[in-house]
Amino acid sequence: MDSLLIKGGVPLHGDVTISGAKNAVLPIMAATLLTAEKCVIRRVPDLSDVKFMGKILASLGAEVKAEGDTVTVQAAKIKGVGDYDLIRKMRGSICILGPLLARLHKAKVSLPGGCVIGTRPIDLHLKGLRALGVGIKVESGYILATAKKLTGADLFLGGRAGPTVLGTANIIMAAVLAEGVTLIESAACEPEVMDLCNFLTAMGAKITGVGSPTITITGVKELHGAEHEVIPDRIEAATYAIAAAATNGEVTLHGARAEHMNAVLDKLRESGVKVERQGAALKVRRGGRLKPVDITTLPYAGFPTDVQAQMMALMILTPGISIITERIFESRFTHAAELMRLGADISIEGPSAIVKGGKPLSGAPVMASDLRASAALVIAGLCAKGATQVNRIYHLDRGYEKMDDKLKALGARIERVEET
Ligand code: UD1
Repeated sequence: MDSLLIKGGVPLHGDVTISGAKNAVLPIMAATLLTAEKCVIRRVPDLSDVKFMGKILASLGAEVKAEGDTVTVQAAKIKGVGDYDLIRKMRGSICILGPLLARLHKAKVSLPGGCVIGTRPIDLHLKGLRALGVGIKVESGYILATAKKLTGADLFLGGRAGPTVLGTANIIMAAVLAEGVTLIESAACEPEVMDLCNFLTAMGAKITGVGSPTITITGVKELHGAEHEVIPDRIEAATYAIAAAATNGEVTLHGARAEHMNAVLDKLRESGVKVERQGAALKVRRGGRLKPVDITTLPYAGFPTDVQAQMMALMILTPGISIITERIFESRFTHAAELMRLGADISIEGPSAIVKGGKPLSGAPVMASDLRASAALVIAGLCAKGATQVNRIYHLDRGYEKMDDKLKALGARIERVEET
C-alpha cells in the first residue's frame, strides 16, 4: 500500500485549484440511471471513489466514458441487480437505489459496508422509499426492493443526528419519476444535495425548496439527458485553507465557494486566520498568533463533520484548550490517537475531544484510518519537525484529487512512496 513521506516545517505558498466535489459527483453519476439518454458531467475529480462509481454504473449496463475531467454516461438499457462486492465496498453506492427503483421499479443491491467512523445505518433511506410505495426486504446481505409503481407522499426524513445527506438524495431521485407530489420534511440542505437537484432539474425534474429543509418534488413521466458542471469541493477547499494556516503560509484557493464554507471560514477567522475573498478565489493566511476555538459538528449550514479532523490538526498547534464535539458520527476520532503519536495532547470525553494545543510536534509513522483523518495527519505532518510517514493513503486517493502533487506545487516536501 502506498504511503506519503512528508518532511515538515515548510509554509505553504501559492495557488491551488479546487476540484469538483466528491460528495456531489457520486449521486449525480447515480442520477444518470434515471434516463436512457446521454448525460455529460463536467469538473469530475479524478478520484478512486469516482472510478468505482463508474464501474458500478457499467456493471448495471450503462456506457461510461471518461475524458479529462468530463464523464459521459448513457444508461440506455440497464438491469436492477448490482454487483454485490462492488456496491458493498463503497458507502456512496447506496444512492443507486433510488434511481433504479424510479426507472425499473425494482432493485437488488448489497447493503453498503460499515465504516470506521460509525455504524452508518440506512433506515431513513428505507423508510422514505417505503413511504413512496416500495416493498423492501433485507436478505443475505442484499436489499431487495420492488414496487408496482412509486407514488408521491409526505415524509419526515430527520434522524437521531438530523437529516441524512445520501438518504435525501435517494428519496429525491426515487420521487422525480413517481406519480404525484412528494414532500420531504427535514431534508438535508448540503450544497451537494442542491447540486444534485440542479442536475435533476436540467434533466426535466420538477423540484422546489432546494437548499431548504422542505423539498417538494412533483413527479414527471420521464427525464431526458443533460449536461452539468459539478460544484467545487468545499471540503477540499477547507482542507487547503487549514493547511495554509497550520503551516503559517499563504495560499489562494481558486474556485473555492465561500458561500458554501461559512461555518468553517467563521471558525478560522475566530482562531485568528485571515481569509479574504478575491473574485472567484479565497486567499488564506495566518494573521498572527492562533487562538483556540470550540467546535461542534452539525448538519449544513453548521460546521461539517468532514472538516472536524483537519480542524483538530490546526488546534493541536494552537496554544490553549480547544473543545471539538462530534455530533454526526459516533466514532469519528480515530485520528486523535495518530495525532498523539506526533506529540499532540488530546483526550476524548464522550462525543468531545479536548485538545491542549501548542505542544511541539515531531514526525513519526502514522496510519490513516479514514479519508478526512488522513488529511488531518498530512496537515500535522506538514507542521511536525522531521519526517512523517502517512501509511494507507488509499483513503486519501478516494477523496482528494492528486493531493501530493497539489501540496508539492505549494512548496511542501512530500513524496508518494509506492509499495513494491
Ligand atoms: C454524507 C457524506 C459524508 C458526510 C456525511 C455527513 C457522501 C458520499 N458522504 O454521508 O462525507 O460525512 O454525509 O455530512 O455524500 N443516519 C441514520 N439513518 C440513515 C442514514 C443516516 O441514522 O438511514 C445517521 C448517520 O448514522 C449519521 C447521520 O445520520 O449519524 C448523518 O449521516 P448521513 O447524512 O446519512 O451521511 P451520508 O449521507 O452517508
